[in-house]
Amino acid sequence: MTDLNILVTGGAGYIGGSVVAALLSGNAHFPKKNLFAAVRTEEQAQSLQSLGIKVLQLNLQNEQEVAEAVLQNEIDIVVQTASSIDARLAVNLISALGKRREATGKDTYHIHSSVTTGYSKEGGWPYGTVKDGDLVYKLEKELNDGFPIRKTNTIITELAKEQGVTNLIVGVPFVYGTGTGNWKKLSQNIPATIKASIALKTVYKFDEDSKFAAVHISDLAEYYVLIVKKILQGEKLPSGEEGYYFAVAHDASWWALAQGLADALSARGLVTDPEVRFWPSDDMAAEALELPRQFVRLMHTAVVTIDYKNGYPLGWQPKWDQKRLLASMDEEVAATLQYDKGRTSLFDALNAEN
Ligand SMILES: NC(=O)c1ccc[n+]([C@@H]2O[C@H](COP(=O)([O-])OP(=O)(O)OC[C@H]3O[C@@H](n4cnc5c(N)ncnc54)[C@H](OP(=O)(O)O)[C@@H]3O)[C@@H](O)[C@H]2O)c1
Repeated sequence: MTDLNILVTGGAGYIGGSVVAALLSGNAHFPKKNLFAAVRTEEQAQSLQSLGIKVLQLNLQNEQEVAEAVLQNEIDIVVQTASSIDARLAVNLISALGKRREATGKDTYHIHSSVTTGYSKEGGWPYGTVKDGDLVYKLEKELNDGFPIRKTNTIITELAKEQGVTNLIVGVPFVYGTGTGNWKKLSQNIPATIKASIALKTVYKFDEDSKFAAVHISDLAEYYVLIVKKILQGEKLPSGEEGYYFAVAHDASWWALAQGLADALSARGLVTDPEVRFWPSDDMAAEALELPRQFVRLMHTAVVTIDYKNGYPLGWQPKWDQKRLLASMDEEVAATLQYDKGRTSLFDALNAEN
């Protein structure tokens, strides 16, 4: 394997932390000396020190800090998991990788984490099904509807082309399961519903069901490892306008999940009965789930149009499916009770824009 340095951003986060753990695991056995994790706070930095990798405390919104970190640490590959919404973070990282490429003549790679929920009618997507290899960039550009995630995808695809940086976009679906990072171990949707249900003593759902694209965190982390391995082996992966990859393992119905959660919470005496009720209003749901009002319904009702059965042949073999997910609802409750770290910062960039 080539001796390249990798920086995982959002290293204290749910996905980023799990990617770091997967890269270090026996399976991937990525050398510690080549692995860097970017975190935001001192406390997070301390929690990752024990891994024996280099932990960088960085504000990714600061262009100069990011450029210095990438150049000084000779970073060749960035796995960006800190934000799908805030384009500035990926822009700073790609610009820094562009500078490194210019200074050394070496190829540099940016692997961006995006979100699949927008590829649904509910998310304003008029084009129907998409899959690995489709020119999703062109469709997003044509649509030009200001949807924050699409906007970020197009901005960074264009910037990477201009800077000569190889850019891959991983469409991340609904993620569940306990993360293996040192800091945050919880995802977004299921823990938010568990906390709201305990507070309200009732599990609520929206009046429409979803058909989410979904993936367990261990399968997702393995997906990133596979991409990194292929880059290290010198394989030319489709990139740029053709560089959309969908890390989807299976479909999931939110109503089925909500019922599973109601059964698990009721068995633990944490809700009054196992009947799932309808949210009386989107406002109440947004407040209880601590999610932005404009996305709360989408995040629970989207019928996502990803054809994931014949994607790029990465050799990915996810181990989780919907049946296993539904059988794991009590584990989700236990993990939320054990690992909750409070409000997510994922939507801060949206609030800053509004
Ligand atoms: N979890 C899911 O189900 C899911 C599904 C689809 C897509 N995604 C996308 O995948 C990405 C990662 O998700 P996640 O669940 O891992 O979120 P997460 O646990 O909140 O991780 C994100 C990490 O990035 C850090 N970060 C944010 N802004 C930063 C900045 N300016 N400088 C330095 N660090 C910064 C956060 O720091 P703090 O801890 O200090 O806030 C956090 O540790 C997000 O963009 C999300 O939208 C997630």
